[in-house]
Amino acid sequence: MMRGRELVNRMLQALLVLLAVALPAATARAEDGYRLWLRYAPLEGPALADLTRRPLAVQIPVGGAIPDNPTIRAAADELQKGLSSLSGRQVSLMKGHDAETRADHAIIRLHCARSEIAAGGAFSIRQSSRGLDILASEPIGCLYGSFSLLRALSEGMRLSDIGRSEAPRYPLRMLNHWDNPDGSVERGYAGSSIFDWWKLPDHLDQWMIDYARANASIGINGVVVNNVNASAMMLEPRYIARLKRLADAWRPYGIRVYLSARFSAPRDIGGLETADPFDPRVAAWWKDKADEIYAAIPDFGGFLVKANSEGQPGPGDYGRTHADGANMLAHALGPRGTVIWRAFVYSEHDEADRARQAFAEFAPLDGQFADNVILQVKNGPIDFQPREPFHPLFGAMPDTRVMLETQITKEYLGFSTHLAFLAPMWKEVLDAPTGHGKTVAEAIAPAGMAGVANIGSDRNWSGSHFDQANWYAFGRLAWDPSLSAEQLAREWAAQTWSREEGFVADISAMMLGSREIVADYMTPLGLAHLMATGHHYGPAPWVCDLPRPEWNPCYYHRADRQGIGFDRTPGGSNALADYAPIAAARWADPDRMDSRYLLWFHHLPWDWTFPDGTSLWQTLVQRYDAGVAGVAQMQQVWAGHEGEIDARRHADVADFLKIQRREAQWWRDASIAYWQSLNSLPLPDGTRPPARSLGHYRALSFPEAPGN
Ligand code: GCU
Repeated sequence: MMRGRELVNRMLQALLVLLAVALPAATARAEDGYRLWLRYAPLEGPALADLTRRPLAVQIPVGGAIPDNPTIRAAADELQKGLSSLSGRQVSLMKGHDAETRADHAIIRLHCARSEIAAGGAFSIRQSSRGLDILASEPIGCLYGSFSLLRALSEGMRLSDIGRSEAPRYPLRMLNHWDNPDGSVERGYAGSSIFDWWKLPDHLDQWMIDYARANASIGINGVVVNNVNASAMMLEPRYIARLKRLADAWRPYGIRVYLSARFSAPRDIGGLETADPFDPRVAAWWKDKADEIYAAIPDFGGFLVKANSEGQPGPGDYGRTHADGANMLAHALGPRGTVIWRAFVYSEHDEADRARQAFAEFAPLDGQFADNVILQVKNGPIDFQPREPFHPLFGAMPDTRVMLETQITKEYLGFSTHLAFLAPMWKEVLDAPTGHGKTVAEAIAPAGMAGVANIGSDRNWSGSHFDQANWYAFGRLAWDPSLSAEQLAREWAAQTWSREEGFVADISAMMLGSREIVADYMTPLGLAHLMATGHHYGPAPWVCDLPRPEWNPCYYHRADRQGIGFDRTPGGSNALADYAPIAAARWADPDRMDSRYLLWFHHLPWDWTFPDGTSLWQTLVQRYDAGVAGVAQMQQVWAGHEGEIDARRHADVADFLKIQRREAQWWRDASIAYWQSLNSLPLPDGTRPPARSLGHYRALSFPEAPGN
């Protein structure tokens, strides 16, 4: 019989072993996505050995022009936190002279006032005799350099191999939140707004700091906190005080705050009976408002304006042009800030082609905007569809600063349940030659990029784990548009999930194909806007009777018994003429163009044949099937990596892929059933007929999905 003490010892040992096995699993299970790509997962193998050869310390500069700068403090804190986590050892922070005496330590030194480095956030990371130096001409460069170093290490690079010099390509790298003061988010699929206006300015949650860290880690330097369909209330003194609290909290992270300004605010909250930009009282009201904001927030970024679009007020209400309205606001801000004027306009009166309206209104205004006005143009001429050609305004307004607006939140790409990595879509636009001598990426160089945020109160910030990748990729591309989608997928996957090569290779490949898969099952071959009107989630190509023509999917697909597609050639709306001739030539001939844009530009008979002899109808059906098969393939890839990452996040993604698989089928079946009701064509041999009748799909209403 075991004696009491021995028994207790044995039991204790067993408990310890149990804990050793159970604890890592429990820790892994605890992952919920909150930490985004900033997990700093412990290194292993040679990378760990390299990092821990000597004890590590982070050296903060003392004295000089920047004695105790909050941005440098943020950089040092992030390095300390990140390096401690990556190395599994507590990394110390040292002031300048203390570090000099610690010959046994490897020192990461922050030099944040080096005039040889450019301003605006540039940095250089160099090996040194003491370890590694992060050099910048100003504190924000040191912060960006620190995040860059941590990213490299998180990807598995060895400390002793890291050296790089970077500078942001664009001055403005902004998120546009479509958040309303009541906490709702327009086109938000990740919970409610992250901005807690109720508790501000008295209480600022740590959440707001983690948000700023995440943004700074990818170079985002501007945030518009409220919806473009703006409430004038946001300009009231009580909201300015709240905004000030956010501005103060985010300043160390290099983030300037902006407001969406409602053009009619002088009337709505200013006591004037007009908002006419030519009325001196209106101009004076805006000037006073700007002064009031700058008194609270000296580095306030400026105003974002949606005017005379979708019912919003604007200068057009008084017979003035967009330039008249923008310039009046620009004058109120003066050199202190920027007016970002949106080119997303369309009017209910022009039925010819919605894709031409912004071009028609804005191209003639080139050269008329004040220097501190930027025109913000959506990536395509309609509205954030799964695929659109680039917007013809890019490159066409050489005397105007033009900024690219992308939509990170997936309004037309399956909300947060469908997996679609959007970097390939944005790259398609950025890399497109405009035909005016510049690519889109080059044409926007004096301004930058804005992304409609996909961030909300959900614990994982974006509603799904994979939607975090779109926030990440947006910021990285705004920093450097020449980065490849593949690199972005790889670096995000390594930091967010696992740096194991087999995992990164498979998951990044899956991500790279994902947006094409969605385009295939929703809007193949250049079709667009077939989503149900209003929520934009499921298919409703059959809707033809809504009062405004461009609210109807029928307006976009133009399908009938004979054919399908929107004719934008000279025989049709002639939208091709809005592009420079070289660009237009790429899409002019249906026989010799990229078929992914085919039905955007051409209306073709169902029996039109591709050069390889397949008919349009056959190819369309094939694309739908490829989309559905693509989701099944993603499911397989993901299932193959079960056990390699934490169980909870793995299961979350697997669940969403299941939903996506079912809904891809829904899209495919409903669409094919509808096209068949028009063309009465048999399905190509070997093709599965839609599971249910067209009537069934037409009767579904969101959020019902097929099978429910
Ligand atoms: C889309 C979207 C609207 C949004 C608009 C805009 O139309 O559905 O919710 O307000 O874009 O960009 O202004």
